[in-house]
Amino acid sequence: MSKIGIFYGSTSGVTEELAEKIREEIGEDLCDLYSMEEDFDSADDLLAYDYLILGCSTWGAGEVQNDWREPLFDMEVEKPDFSGKTIAIFGPGDCEGHSKHFVGALGTLYDQFKALGAKLVGAVSTEDYSFEKSTSIRDGKFVGLALDEVNESDKTDDRIANWLELLKADFPMLAA
Ligand SMILES: Cc1cc2nc3c(=O)[nH]c(=O)nc-3n(C[C@H](O)[C@H](O)[C@H](O)COP(=O)(O)O)c2cc1C
Repeated sequence: MSKIGIFYGSTSGVTEELAEKIREEIGEDLCDLYSMEEDFDSADDLLAYDYLILGCSTWGAGEVQNDWREPLFDMEVEKPDFSGKTIAIFGPGDCEGHSKHFVGALGTLYDQFKALGAKLVGAVSTEDYSFEKSTSIRDGKFVGLALDEVNESDKTDDRIANWLELLKADFPMLAA
């Protein structure tokens, strides 16, 4: 059975820890973990996997974490073909300190990989969250798993567990 590629960008280590937690939950035999800063060279690294989980925190005012910037820019220009790929996105933000731009990075990744042909899965209801605005909502749901280690770290384990349960519908190795 094919493995899941988990790729994350993280400035202060939060997304990295979350990515490690997700890998632990999934099982190390079922996924490979990569840092965008240290391991990523080109879109081919992503294209090596049919199933991807992408982690990105939000910085600035709703912008993607630094290590994703250049890769996203390059892919926008080169337009690698992600058709046939299944992608789920997660990322932490700060629903109080950055309430008007909560987890904006998720929407940026979603739009870009969707435009490149990928199937994006793992949308999460906004009901359990409190924030003013987010550009990461499509059809009333977050495009991926929004997390908040600043204000709601007590909810993280359950949010991850529920999300991985949801992903079983599209990631066959999680349901096996
Ligand atoms: C300068 C700064 C800007 C931030 N901007 C946002 C933002 O626009 N939206 C948001 O939801 N979180 C924002 N955050 C919160 C970070 O996304 C959050 O702290 C996250 O856990 C960092 O993850 P990382 O260490 O993996 O990069 C910001 C934090 C800082 C320090």
